[in-house]
Parts: sequence; C-alpha cells; structure tokens
Amino acid sequence: KKNERIGVDYIKGILQPTPTCDIWDEIWNFQAKPDDLLISTYPKAGTTWTQEIVDMIQNDGNIEKCKRAPTHLRFAFIEGKLPSLSSGVEQANAMPSPRKLKTHLPIQLLPPSFLEKGCKIIYVARNVKDNLVSYYHFQKMNAALPDPGTWEEYFEDFLNGKVCWGSWYDHVKGWWEAKDKYPILYLFYEDMKENPKHEIQKIMEFMGKNLDEDALDKIIYHTSFDIMKKNPMANYTTIPGEIMDHSVSLFMRKGTVGDWKNYFTVAQNERFNEIYKEKMADTTLPFSIDD
Ligand code: PPS
Repeated sequence: KKNERIGVDYIKGILQPTPTCDIWDEIWNFQAKPDDLLISTYPKAGTTWTQEIVDMIQNDGNIEKCKRAPTHLRFAFIEGKLPSLSSGVEQANAMPSPRKLKTHLPIQLLPPSFLEKGCKIIYVARNVKDNLVSYYHFQKMNAALPDPGTWEEYFEDFLNGKVCWGSWYDHVKGWWEAKDKYPILYLFYEDMKENPKHEIQKIMEFMGKNLDEDALDKIIYHTSFDIMKKNPMANYTTIPGEIMDHSVSLFMRKGTVGDWKNYFTVAQNERFNEIYKEKMADTTLPFSIDD
C-alpha cells in the first residue's frame, strides 16, 4: 500500500512541503540566539552524520548521552512540520541553550535572524550525483515528500530544481558565497568519508572545543556509517512507518561515494556533465565532477 503523500507548494520560487508553506511567516520570523549552532545542508548531503558528530563533540565523546533521544529530538528542524506534531520552530523555542538546529533552506530563505545574530553555521555539501541518487531513494520511502516518480522523471526534476528545497546548484553556490561574510564552516561529504578525523577536528575547533585523542577516537567510531546504521537513535527507525517506510529504502542506505555509477546511464551522465559545467561556471566552489 502506498503511503499518503504530503503536497508541495512554492515559497519565493522554491518548492516546499505544504505544511511548511502554511507556517512560513512563523519560520521566516524565527528568532535565533547568538549561541545557536545550525547545521545546514541540501537534503541528503550528510546532515544526520554531521548532527551526530556535533552532538558527540558537545557531549565530550559521551556515547550514552548521545543516545538520550533520536536525532530529530536532539536537533530542531527549523522549517520542519509534520501533521499533528509540533513544528521545528516550536521545538526550538522550547529547547534549552545552547540549541542545536538543522535546516535545508537555501541561503535566501534562511530566517534573517541567524545571520544577524552571528550564529555559527556548519554547511555540508555532497557530490551532486550521489546527492541526487540518495534524494531519489529518500523520496520513495518518505511520505512527507512527493513520490519521486520513475528514475528518469526524477532525474529531470532534479536537474530543473523542481524538487523540495530547490536547485542543488543554487544551494551549494549560495552558501559558498555566504561563507566569507558569516561564521560558516563549509564541509564536503567526500572529505568526511576520506578523512573523518581531520573533518571532525575542524568541527571541534569551529565549536570552540578541545577534546583529547581518546574522545576523538570515540567520536570517529560512534559516527561511522556502520555504527550509526545500527543505532536507533541515529537511523530514523523511531519515525512512524506511515511517514518513513524503511521496507522501501533504509534511511541509512549505503553511505558511500560513487553510488551514482549504479544508476546513471552513459547518456544521462554525458548530459548531466554538460549541464553541470554550465551551471557551475560562475563559482569558485572546488567541486570536481567525477565522470
Ligand atoms: S536528511 O534527510 O537530509 O537529513 O538526510 P542526510 O542525513 O543529509 O543524508 C542521508 C545520507 O547520508 C548517509 N549517511 C552517512 N554516510 C556516511 N557516514 C555516516 N555516518 C552517515 N550517516 C548517514 C545516508 O546513508 C544517506 O546517504 P545514502 O547515499 O542514501 O546512503
């Protein structure tokens, strides 16, 4: 049986789930606090992984403390709204400081208060092709987003930015430009895979923490894909099955670099590379497309 899907609508030209559109004024007027820490990503770029790293750092590598609640309760998802549950804004307003928050909003839709208050923001970007593949599978299993349709249909929608949170290209470029003006740590999923210790250290320094090697080793272990996949407090299995159906696709699906090669046809890849070159011609973002 197919899950009943949430509708979508536009906010300033960007597709969003309808429940988010319905409370947009409340989201836009969100009042950040200077000691808020925000994790920002295009969907499926490594949000949950970064959330776990940040929580582990904040709790000095104490694994048990990080198992106190599922990810979505430890972090408030600012624009999040599911029927019959409190909104991300309500959740954030009820949180003790220092608050840990999450968003997928493109920079132009970020509630202005975050930049005005000088909040620290960690942005994570992921190789566009793997990001697309991950998002496609997520939309299949998540009733809080539209059905992605066929692979071919989704491929076109993604290229045209006709997916929730808009165009991947505009998202990564917009945040890249903002990083020189605001306290934004801009990270890459592929770097985190290649050298987790190095990237975790960067996050630690950015958060103003100084943990010893022992704590660092615990964080690397606890936030590895295989361990997070088994951790009910990090793998989203606590979300009701009517919303996230893990029998369709796991939230912790593969966690690898290069899975796109199992999905893109040769023709799709050639076309994708052409469009990529055009869309990324006006940025200094150091992404290299793997073709
Ligand atoms: S969401 O819904 O936007 O918050 O999703 P997000 O967490 O950004 O992205 C989910 C993808 O990240 C993978 N993931 C990881 N990869 C490596 N290491 C760790 N620890 C990890 N945790 C989550 C997850 O498997 C999704 O990617 P795919 O490619 O679909 O497996």
